[in-house]
Amino acid sequence: METEIGKNVFSNRQQQRGQLEERMMAPAARPEEAVQEQTFRPQRLDDYIGQQRVKENMNIFITAARARGEALDHILLYGPPGLGKTTLANIIAGELGVNIKVTSGPAIEHAGDLASILTSLAPNDVLFIDEIHRLNRAVEEVLYPAMEDFHIDIMMGKGPGAQTIHLPLAPFTLVGATTRVGMLTAPLRDRFGVISRLEYYNNEELYRILVRSAALLGVPITEDGAMEIAGRSRGTPRIANRLLRRMRDFALVKGNGVIDRELAQYGLELLEIDSKGLDKTDQKVLRAIIETFGGGPVGLDTIAASISESVDTVFDVCEPYLLQLGFLNRTPRGRTATADAYRYLGYEPPAGKSFAGTLFENKD
Ligand code: ADE
Repeated sequence: METEIGKNVFSNRQQQRGQLEERMMAPAARPEEAVQEQTFRPQRLDDYIGQQRVKENMNIFITAARARGEALDHILLYGPPGLGKTTLANIIAGELGVNIKVTSGPAIEHAGDLASILTSLAPNDVLFIDEIHRLNRAVEEVLYPAMEDFHIDIMMGKGPGAQTIHLPLAPFTLVGATTRVGMLTAPLRDRFGVISRLEYYNNEELYRILVRSAALLGVPITEDGAMEIAGRSRGTPRIANRLLRRMRDFALVKGNGVIDRELAQYGLELLEIDSKGLDKTDQKVLRAIIETFGGGPVGLDTIAASISESVDTVFDVCEPYLLQLGFLNRTPRGRTATADAYRYLGYEPPAGKSFAGTLFENKD
């Protein structure tokens, strides 16, 4: 009996450890980070670093909407998690000088929930719906007329005596965010006037974000300390800021309070984050494709099963970054490792193997 309990405890610990390791580089926000991120979140477009193209467009749309005194067109922001979609929505509302209401697709369960949010909006307010691809059908249908000409139709009663009440709404701006733009229905996608893709940040942009965040935290950081963290943050400000907080702990306990290159290298190595920002899970994915499946093509489900990871983690967390680094291809027949991935893991790319690939959005 005792050994049974012991075994269970051990496997729970192992599981927890797995989750912790994974979460260090997972771009999804952790519950406790919502508050911490407020500290770093820029309030104005001028303070928002990177995403230059999106920023320039937003600046024009915001200025025009303000000049006309009208609500801004509905905006859809898409791209991998952690790149600042919520931050941008807050900035848009701030720059417009209006209130923002924040919710998410899975949080709106019934059509009535959305109706009560919509009727509470003041003229030109911003409604931010995160994970908008997860709205259910009934809720989505309330959104169509609301977006199109600012009204909702409410059914009163049932059967032959049922009546539809046409309820006008104040003009508002919907900012929708999604990591899976391919999962949006066409009627919803078509109702956005602006569709913008957020890109991974380059190291120089992450460096600037880290220097800004370190100043806000009051922790001294050297130039090459910030560069070291930037290079391992997988293009994602949320990860950069998370690593910064961990390095601040290392600097306090193991160093002299300053985050310099040596300390960052030491700390990041202990967290098992390699020089390109790959963690153990990313490395396992690459190794599985190369060592177990001969470089691919191999299906996503097979990869996930072979390393005991969830399909969602491999698809949402590992693959976007491995694709970005040019280590992975999605082909119609499955995933393949690139020649660069072979070299990165210290292998000679096999002669005569084709490394061409095409981008596929789906999970096949
Ligand atoms: N913190 C998180 N994302 C940021 C960004 N894009 N610019 C400035 N600070 C940030």
